[in-house]
Amino acid sequence: MNNDLNENLNFEVANSYKRWNWWPLFPLYPYGTKKTIIKEIVPKMIWGIEQLQGLYYVAVPIRLTVVKVPNGLMLINPLPPTKELISYIKLLEDEHGPVLKVVLPTSSGLEHKIAMPAMARYFKNAELWLCPGQWSFPLNLPLRFLGLPSDRTKFLLKDGFPYPEIFDWISLGPIDIGLGRFQEIACFHKISKSLIITDALVGINSKPPELFEYDPTPLLFHARDKGSEKLIDTLDQRKKGWLRLVLFASFLKPHLLSIPPIEEIIGNSLRPGLRNLRSHLGIYPFCWEEGWEKSALQIIGKQKPLLQVAPVIRRLVFPRAKNEFLNWLDKLSCLKGMERVISAHFCSSVEFNNYECMKLIRSIKSTDWDNSEGNYNFLSVLDNNLLNLKVVPKDPLKKFKD
Ligand SMILES: [Fe+2]
Repeated sequence: MNNDLNENLNFEVANSYKRWNWWPLFPLYPYGTKKTIIKEIVPKMIWGIEQLQGLYYVAVPIRLTVVKVPNGLMLINPLPPTKELISYIKLLEDEHGPVLKVVLPTSSGLEHKIAMPAMARYFKNAELWLCPGQWSFPLNLPLRFLGLPSDRTKFLLKDGFPYPEIFDWISLGPIDIGLGRFQEIACFHKISKSLIITDALVGINSKPPELFEYDPTPLLFHARDKGSEKLIDTLDQRKKGWLRLVLFASFLKPHLLSIPPIEEIIGNSLRPGLRNLRSHLGIYPFCWEEGWEKSALQIIGKQKPLLQVAPVIRRLVFPRAKNEFLNWLDKLSCLKGMERVISAHFCSSVEFNNYECMKLIRSIKSTDWDNSEGNYNFLSVLDNNLLNLKVVPKDPLKKFKD
């Protein structure tokens, strides 16, 4: 009895460490309970703090990067500050000094913006640095309504940059995406030769991210072929689920995925062992067609992460601004001694030097950026619809030319 009580208590305490009460503002999986892990990326200099984030069990890692700066720490790409996350930062503060600056280097990534006010409240003495052109959705509210105090909020570019002697800051965009602007400002930490970015590039490999070791449910949910199958935890099922999550996250609707008839979906639901919310009551509205695995492996590295322009960014943000993207890569290719890229999604650290950057430029130049075949079909149709409805402009650079 006492053991049960202790277990329940431990479970409650553990859960309270993961709680994020503001999740309804942007209701993404895993909603109000977010597991956080920390990884040292560059010894004594850079750490990645990760949580999962996604829709309908399509979850991928999202990352806050912590960098050691003179007399303290700088946080880049905020994350929901659960007690667990704060406990990791406290450990780093004990050794390296307080959080001095919190940087939101993107104007468009809602998933990165959403935690900025909570971070601002928690780190009351930290300077807040924002990418210019911030906008909120569905209502475009002034920054003070979003909880960012004007007396310690600064804008990258207009107000300079934090620690210009330690970091090079390189802007990608702005690009007009209709609802607001896309812009992200990469920073190159010269001492560790690390490029820290948000969404523009991602490195994907075939091994499911470590966060799924704490709860592999999303992998197991998507590894099935129909709703009547139970969630079975094996290494193969985890790997299979991961490949499917990568396809979903990259292309929204992969081309070898169809939606079965409603009678079939309902017929497969509510089977014994599946009458629970974890299994979504057995409702699984997907059918994967032959060849899906091969198409996933095209964007996944086998031995090491495959660095790429995220397909969603390429097809929905930059479809008519390829040169803008190439100009940004040109600037990156001149960074002295670059060794790695740390992005806010997928793998924490990917080898990336000037030679590989030039190779990426050449490969983008020779790629049909407007590809609407195969996995790119859905993104292409979506882009055309948004264009026809005039939600996105034909010339995404026009507004910013002056
Ligand atoms: Fe993002």
